[in-house]
Amino acid sequence: MAVPILPSEIDISSPEAYLNERRLQADFSRLRNEMPIAWVDREPYRPFWSVVRNADIKAIEKNHQIFINEPRLTLQTRKAEAASAAMFGGQRYGVRTLTDMDEPDHRKYRDISSRWFVGPGLRKVLERVDRIADRFVDRMVKQGGQCDFATEVAMWYPLYVILSLFDLPEEDAPRLLQLTQHLVSASDPDLQRSDLGGTDAVPEFFEYLGRLLVERRAHPGDDLASAIATAEIDGKPIDTLEALSYYLIMVTAGHDTTSGAITGGMHALVENPAEREKLRQPTPALLRNASGEMCRWVTPVKHFMRTATEDFSFHDATIKAGDAVALFYASGNRDDACFEDPDRFRVDRKVDGHVAFGFGIHSCVGRQLALAEMDAFFGRLIPRLRHVEFAGDPKLIQSNLIGGYKSLPLHYEITH
Ligand code: HEM
Repeated sequence: MAVPILPSEIDISSPEAYLNERRLQADFSRLRNEMPIAWVDREPYRPFWSVVRNADIKAIEKNHQIFINEPRLTLQTRKAEAASAAMFGGQRYGVRTLTDMDEPDHRKYRDISSRWFVGPGLRKVLERVDRIADRFVDRMVKQGGQCDFATEVAMWYPLYVILSLFDLPEEDAPRLLQLTQHLVSASDPDLQRSDLGGTDAVPEFFEYLGRLLVERRAHPGDDLASAIATAEIDGKPIDTLEALSYYLIMVTAGHDTTSGAITGGMHALVENPAEREKLRQPTPALLRNASGEMCRWVTPVKHFMRTATEDFSFHDATIKAGDAVALFYASGNRDDACFEDPDRFRVDRKVDGHVAFGFGIHSCVGRQLALAEMDAFFGRLIPRLRHVEFAGDPKLIQSNLIGGYKSLPLHYEITH
């Protein structure tokens, strides 16, 4: 059987490709139609299979016995992988987060935090989310009708929610934002610390989080950082590496993604006044649907990878044991087999089935919190937003992993 090779004119792997969304989505659309699985052998990455259809992404994620998360979770350049190996040996980036784990460990560790993101645990957090959302809408009012929505509002609001979940002081926000950007926006020339894919941000991050861990082990409180610090796995206290890694994923994945979804959602609402109008007096159900549509539309997490543990036939290809497979959520969310007219932003479309939060056992633990943050913010802002327009060009973060905005300058009028 001939191996389906990604056509040379198509680029779905370089961070630069993610700056031109129109072209990227045209390429994904072609692949979904012509080559649902393709072998991608492009420097500076080790080769991998690309999977682009919504149903295929779900099928691979569902088959977590064969397709595991260790050891290759994201596309990293060979140089970044070598730097990580030199600094930390076998452990990717010297971390072991939930996303790096497979069963049975994954389930045990996931149980530590899951109660904070559902039911009464979530409801308690949401009271604080409402207060924080109020503050950020007020901040927009005080700005007097002009702001950079990305850098003055959306980068901070979800970060403040995480600070509150961890019971950390708000003065720490600028440092955490910078550390997060060094780690996850490492392919953007304006936000990176070096060209080592974020590897070199880990020691400073662990130094900060290490102090927090020592403090919460000694004086646990009623917060997520304490719950992790005092957790037990198989009757023994959680190891330091796993606790620090847990902190790391929560204080990065917990805000960067949500701020990308909020900024991209705002961008789409500015471009689509009729959709904005539908949210003038929203019901809770419509608001929640709109938040889901923003996540589908933006797809802040562009891909994650899995590694096959045995040979597996898929469409016209044989994925060999040890091969890596990249699941392109950014493509799965524009699949017309799943969504009608997928390249249109519609707050009242049927949005179920999107893969912005992944799928299966690793699907985002913070999904309900992220959606609630978006509901709280847009539910307060849009009914009062009389007018809004761009005050400059939006600027995207150059990344094939976590997308987002460096800038979204707006002029607006908010009623009191
Ligand atoms: C719009 C916002 C968000 C998006 C788009 C997003 C997206 C994702 C995606 C795609 C995954 C991987 C799913 C998979 O492998 O199937 C994931 C996992 C995860 N997310 Fe989120 N996320 C968001 C917000 C949050 C928040 C608010 C938190 C926590 C406060 C969070 C914490 C996590 C954690 C801990 C995991 C790992 C779960 C596991 O491996 O079991 N995320 N997220």
